[in-house]
Order: sequence, then C-alpha cells, then structure tokens
Amino acid sequence: MKINTLINQHKSKFDKYYKKLLKHKLNNSVLSKAMIYSSINGGKRIRAFLVSQSSKMVNLSNKNMMIISSSIESIHSYSLIHDDLPSMDNDDFRRGKPSTHKKFNEATAILAGDALHDLAFELLSKNLNNINPEKNLKLLNYLTMCTGYDGLAGGQSLDLLYENKKLNKFKIINMYKKKTGKLFEFSFAAPFIILGESNKRINFSKKYGSTFGIVFQIIDDLLDETNNFKKMGKTPGKDIKQGKRTLQSIIGKENVIKYCEKIINEFVIKNKKEFKSNPMLKDLLEFNLQRLNN
Ligand code: IPE
Ligand code: IPE
Ligand code: MG
Ligand code: MG
Ligand code: MG
Repeated sequence: MKINTLINQHKSKFDKYYKKLLKHKLNNSVLSKAMIYSSINGGKRIRAFLVSQSSKMVNLSNKNMMIISSSIESIHSYSLIHDDLPSMDNDDFRRGKPSTHKKFNEATAILAGDALHDLAFELLSKNLNNINPEKNLKLLNYLTMCTGYDGLAGGQSLDLLYENKKLNKFKIINMYKKKTGKLFEFSFAAPFIILGESNKRINFSKKYGSTFGIVFQIIDDLLDETNNFKKMGKTPGKDIKQGKRTLQSIIGKENVIKYCEKIINEFVIKNKKEFKSNPMLKDLLEFNLQRLNN
C-alpha cells in the first residue's frame, strides 16, 4: 500500500482515539474549548504515524502507542498555538481555520498551549500500561530534553533570533534539528526507549526521527513559498515576508532538495540492516519529498 494511504488510514484511527480522550479528560471551560479547538479536526498526524511505525518494530501495544501519540500531538499543537502568536510568527490561520488567539484571545491561546504541553506529561506519567517505572521515568526525562531549552523551545527561540540575520547553513540545520527535529526524534524513539531496546537501536531510532524532522522542516519551508492556503491551511509566503532564515534562503531551492536526498541516502547506507528489514522506513523518509508534488 502507498505511504500516503497508510498515513491517512492511521490518521482516521488516531483522530477518533484522540478526540475521545480529550473529551473524556477535558470539560466545558473556555480553556478546555480552546485546547480542543486547536488540537482536533486538523493536522496531518505525521508524528503519530511515526510512533505507529516504530511501535510495530518493537511490538508496543496499541493502547500505549496511542497514549504516546496523543501526548506528542498535544505537544505539537501547543507548539503551533504559540508559534502563531503575534509575538512569534503572527499567523492568523492554522489548519484552515483562524488560529487560536484569533478565535479566542491571546491570553487563552497562551494558556491553552501551556495546558496542552502539561497534558502530554500527564498522559505519559499516568496512562501507560504495564511499563517498567524506571523506563517510564526515562521516557519522561527524554521528553523534557526534546521539548525544553535545548529542544523545541530552544529551536523556536533561535528561529526568532535569526530573523533577518546573516547565517551559515550549519546554524540553520542546527535550528531545524531543535525546533522540529527533536519532537520527531522523540516520536520515533519513544517506543524503543519505553521497551528498553538496546542502546544501538535506541540511537538508530533517534537519528531516524531527527533526520525525518530536519527534512520535514526543509520541505515545510519550500512549501511556504510555493503552495497555497487551500492546500496548507496556513498563510503562504510568510517566511520571506518575515525575514525567516531558511536553508533555501542560503543555498537555493534546487540545492535544498539535493541536500535532503543526500542526508537520506547517507543515513540509509549507514544503517543498511534496519532499512533492509523495514523497507517502509525509506518510503517514509521519501514521503517528505513527495509532498512537493501533491
Ligand atoms: C507544522 O507541522 C510545523 C512544522 C514543524 C513545520 P505539521 O505540518 O505537522 O502540522 P499539522 O499538524 O499537519 O497541522
Ligand atoms: C514551526 O516552524 C516549528 C514548530 C516547532 C512549531 P514554522 O513556523 O515554519 O511552522 P508553520 O509554517 O508556522 O507551521
Ligand atoms: Mg515558526
Ligand atoms: Mg510559523
Ligand atoms: Mg513553515
């Protein structure tokens, strides 16, 4: 089956689970409504798909896979709400609808982001089944590293500091690695960590997720310039307008695609065994490039 079909099939399954979970946990408050508004009915659920694929590799139960995915998609939604705030990217639309601060107000958007972030830690500390407590703690600690000062938040801070600055490509890649790569790294590696796989396999899973995330952000930046609102559900052309420093702003669009192919190929060659036993892994990395033609 084609990777796009698999992703969409999984998205339907995940969306159903996640909606039920949020409705069960949350209430009728304005804050809950803002959390639900920004986290369900939209989103490609690519991070959840990564969790499902690595869960298959290590035989993680469906329930635990869904809890880990829900926690990651909650963190992701928080990051989008804050990313859209006037003090950050100042975006009025997200997933085809007014962004959370437009639909509610800025204070509610900030707090909905905070609470979605916290919900992720609630889920991972309370709702996993039959997991060794030490491994569970290790996973929680790893999430703090991926989201915190040297992870997603750290990367977002660099993204803002870098606006309109002269930079080299290594600084840009390092920023992508943090702002986007770290959550993808967590998504793919979490099942390996929670089940206590070998360090070698855990390192492979981290590197896979990180590579995926860097390529994902490079393609998002390309689409920002070439796609339209209808396809993306967010305002196109904003990166140039805001002086965002992207890889393509430094090395050009064609070189950017070559760069993606190069890091994918190098990673595949280095990890021949894993890719041979799981051909889907390469399709999934290449799915990013296919997004340019959809
Ligand atoms: C958007 O992520 C933010 C980036 C890291 C580029 P997605 O493109 O995964 O957003 P949704 O969840 O599908 O809306
Ligand atoms: C956002 O990158 C990365 C996050 C960690 C949220 P972008 O600012 O390019 O994401 P979009 O284009 O607004 O979705
Ligand atoms: Mg941004
Ligand atoms: Mg943005
Ligand atoms: Mg973007």
